[in-house]
Amino acid sequence: MSERIDVRLEALSEKTVVEVSVPPPTTPSGKTFYLETFGCQMNEHDSEKVAGVLFERGYRQVRTPAAASLVLYNTCSIREKAVQKVFSRLGEFRGSEDQKTIGVLGCVAQQEGHKIFRRAPWVSLVCGSASYNRFGEMLNDLESGATRVTGLDTDTDLTFETEVTRRDHPFRAFITIIEGCDKACTYCVVPYTRGPERSRTSASVLEEARRLADEGYTEIQLLGQTVNSYRDPSPRRMRFSELLFAVAEIEGIRRVRFTTSHPSDFGPDITAAVDAHPGICDHVHLPVQSGSTPILHAMDRTYTREQYLEKIALIRSARRPISITTDIIVGFPGETEQDFDETLTLLDAAQYDGAFCFMYSPRPNTPARLMDHAVSETEKSRRLQILLERQRQIQAASNQTLVGQTFDVLVDGGGKREGQWAGRTSSNRVVNFTSPQSGLLGHYVSTRVVGAGPNSLVGEHVI
Ligand code: 5AD
Ligand code: SF4
Repeated sequence: MSERIDVRLEALSEKTVVEVSVPPPTTPSGKTFYLETFGCQMNEHDSEKVAGVLFERGYRQVRTPAAASLVLYNTCSIREKAVQKVFSRLGEFRGSEDQKTIGVLGCVAQQEGHKIFRRAPWVSLVCGSASYNRFGEMLNDLESGATRVTGLDTDTDLTFETEVTRRDHPFRAFITIIEGCDKACTYCVVPYTRGPERSRTSASVLEEARRLADEGYTEIQLLGQTVNSYRDPSPRRMRFSELLFAVAEIEGIRRVRFTTSHPSDFGPDITAAVDAHPGICDHVHLPVQSGSTPILHAMDRTYTREQYLEKIALIRSARRPISITTDIIVGFPGETEQDFDETLTLLDAAQYDGAFCFMYSPRPNTPARLMDHAVSETEKSRRLQILLERQRQIQAASNQTLVGQTFDVLVDGGGKREGQWAGRTSSNRVVNFTSPQSGLLGHYVSTRVVGAGPNSLVGEHVI
């Protein structure tokens, strides 16, 4: 029997809730943990590794904080709203009589450090992502009764790897190939919370991918804040595109995804790799952030509107259609109506298959926080609505063109009703489809698209 828990992902989609299976405990133990994850896939994967360490030590995962002796929040600080959510979760333990151990992990831990103890004195552990290598030691301290344990390293050149990673999905696995970020986008807190770029050796990535294939995983997602800035630190000096190809070549691996790509490091070799290997997914997530060159300059994005559109043209020139998604920020300081208009026309030019749109949120330590000409919250909100509506129309029209086509989907969910299933195409589109067959979870199924909405497709199983 396995329990069900919710894992919340927020950086990419503030509303996504993924249901995952939790393996049963191997050893009965009074030690139980509750772990909730906020933020990006990097955080989600870090949580899998943290859970691995806990399982190794005989902890059992439970689905509510109330049932846990150790409550952990793996946090995101990319926008202020995400930070507020963490403090509101912590607030629920104010004045509690329970003898629980409460820990804050991830980006809010790194950003707020010891201040968390002042704001929520019932917290015992504050640990940023650069210190997870010491997570086992910190657990020892907590188990010996320590009440203030911190891991706030910033200068580690180590990546976080554990012997046992508890993976949330039985057929889709993440591998972090590069941690941290060396870019200096003026709005972004990530270089401060996750530290400088560190890549893993290609040999260790390939070894992990082979092991995962042996365990039955068929889809691998290579992760990094700027995944395509990957630089193999070993003498082999494998390029990112070569690594993609090598993972796709592993027997048993049917799909390789990668996210997130930075436009400045996106070369033609990546598109060529997608063209050359059907196992490399035909999807690129390429955040643009703004369509206006002066705003891109103020953001220190290191490319102009024109240079970005050249990258899009390159990807569109591939032999097989590649879907492109993006991230956009509205209301960056100094963004005029004309700048915003440039973002709208960029949407028309790029014809994205998906876009995650955010209102600019000032972050601690970042240069943009001190910039003049802040845009009001009301105006940001107005621009966001306009942007979302424009993108909705683009997606509705482009998804409509897929009706009648057939796609293989990796089935990753059952629908609410009997015979209903959901899966993802290689291009990362969601297909909700019907099938008379049972037991499809984790299988690749051919579906014909019979309907299309802006955010998903409706299909039927081609048997
Ligand atoms: N305000 C709003 N959105 C932000 N992002 C990063 N920093 C901020 C911020 N300060 C967005 C970017 C990034 C995505 C993960 O979050 O679009 O690509
Ligand atoms: Fe932040 Fe820019 Fe690095 Fe992305 S590339 S994590 S937006 S600093």
